[in-house]
Amino acid sequence: MSNSYEVRPGQSIELLKALHILTRDGKMNQDSRRKLKQVYHLFQFIEPLLREVADARGAVSLVDHGAGKSYLGFILYDLFFKDLPEEQGQNSHIYGIETREELVKSSQELAARAGFPGMSFLNLSVAESITSPALPATVDVVTALHACNTATDDAIRFALARQARHIVLVPCCQAEVASVLRKHKGKLLAGNPLTEIWRHPLHTREFGSQVTNVLRCLQLEAHGYQVSVTELVGWEHSMKNELIIAQYKDLPRKRAADRLQNVLETLGLEEMGERFFTAP
Ligand SMILES: C[S@@+](CC[C@H](N)C(=O)[O-])C[C@H]1O[C@@H](n2cnc3c(N)ncnc32)[C@H](O)[C@@H]1O
Repeated sequence: MSNSYEVRPGQSIELLKALHILTRDGKMNQDSRRKLKQVYHLFQFIEPLLREVADARGAVSLVDHGAGKSYLGFILYDLFFKDLPEEQGQNSHIYGIETREELVKSSQELAARAGFPGMSFLNLSVAESITSPALPATVDVVTALHACNTATDDAIRFALARQARHIVLVPCCQAEVASVLRKHKGKLLAGNPLTEIWRHPLHTREFGSQVTNVLRCLQLEAHGYQVSVTELVGWEHSMKNELIIAQYKDLPRKRAADRLQNVLETLGLEEMGERFFTAP
């Protein structure tokens, strides 16, 4: 079978069909092959984090924000959660957060059909989830893959509020910072030649996106996380392929907080201070 090297031993063929990764007769098209490759690639980064938490705590909870069709959640459950020893598995859980009700429903149905009791899907915005009692007070791993615009920032806020040990982000485009850069461009242009970096509208957008991720990293560092930024290779058809992984290490916070403040002031982004808050 052409797809045999891509489907892993023990992996549910029925689940892959239900996710439309495999066709009804078990074949795979170009698009779904790519999707599966991406998710596997991400799995390589996430699996060791899950393993570490499960070994240390005896259970693991993961919240996936902007879950969409929950490819990631289902593959993680199928390849990792499902095979946990019973005493670890029974207290482990994946939560998918998604605003589109029909996607929440279809994921709930699929989890029931697949026999995955440790999966829940909540019809909430990421912002609403921050205070939702439907989620545990503390969680182990937070993921957000291409969660639109500021949903990634809300996912960071959620992760900080629920004391996540690990945060895995593949940000989508974020328009907010670019719009503030645009607003103050005229005022700053006269004073600093470096404002040339974002003078042209296309550059304002690209630079805004870049600065957003820089601010996100500094914000996480300012809350004691160790942050690494890499490229999600194998994600070549996607424009947005930056992978930010943060691990809570209780590191010193002051330098990152000062730097963040400095970047905001230098770029005329002071009004974004609330979004990229650094105080606990
Ligand atoms: C580009 S899709 C990504 C889906 C999935 N994470 C993936 O990578 O396949 C973004 C999803 O986030 C959802 N979404 C956007 N903003 C959201 C928000 N503020 N809260 C919850 N879900 C949101 C959208 O409805 C959509 O399903």
